[in-house]
Amino acid sequence: MREAQFEFGRNGSTPADADGRLDAPAFHRNAEPIWQAMRDTLARTSGSVLEIGSGTGQHIVTYAARCPHLTFWPSDIMESHRASIEAYRLASGLTNVRPPVGIDLMNEWYWHDEIPLGAILCFNVIHIAPWAVAQNLMRGAGRHLKTGGHLLMYGPYKRAGAHTAPSNEAFDTSLRGRNPEWGVRDLESVADIAAQNDLALVKTVEMPANNLVLAFERR
Ligand SMILES: C[S@@+](CC[C@H](N)C(=O)[O-])C[C@H]1O[C@@H](n2cnc3c(N)ncnc32)[C@H](O)[C@@H]1O
Repeated sequence: MREAQFEFGRNGSTPADADGRLDAPAFHRNAEPIWQAMRDTLARTSGSVLEIGSGTGQHIVTYAARCPHLTFWPSDIMESHRASIEAYRLASGLTNVRPPVGIDLMNEWYWHDEIPLGAILCFNVIHIAPWAVAQNLMRGAGRHLKTGGHLLMYGPYKRAGAHTAPSNEAFDTSLRGRNPEWGVRDLESVADIAAQNDLALVKTVEMPANNLVLAFERR
């Protein structure tokens, strides 16, 4: 049966704490390498940073603590994820993280004109959702990022249509088995839809376990 949505805390993963906090095992492996890849960009960013598909909320509170000059806006489509994000936000005591909102990349999405976005973060989302999610991510990033602002993405990608490692190919097969519309995306196809929305791929950083951090700049 096709899985409609990915959800932390289900299918054998660690259940939520009493306050709703969920744990993503991958966060503990990925948080530091992702930070190293994007810290210089975030140091030069001003204003607000929107994260789409924040999941548990662990990434956003970690980076918000290291970037007091920025205001962070988490979001997710799943109610249980938003509850987890809010629990991490409250537990952190951080004043530069706002309560989570419900942005759904299956649709065109909107952002407040009066809250200029210096950056958008989107980690591990576009392969675990239909291709329309990548298209709407790029359309919205092109529309809502300030000129010179960045879309920072993390995840596995094919290059020139080929997998970069057997583990990524196996992951792709398992994703497609869960939902035929999911799958590891081709870097060039992602860069193409970005370019159609005035977003230029300015940085590609190789990460552990054959993942990439991509930085797109709004022209
Ligand atoms: C694999 S999790 C990654 C979570 C987090 N970014 C991380 O790296 O730990 C994918 C996330 O994308 C969210 N997601 C799935 N479909 C989405 C959609 N259509 N719009 C926005 N978020 C979506 C899921 O709810 C989930 O939180």
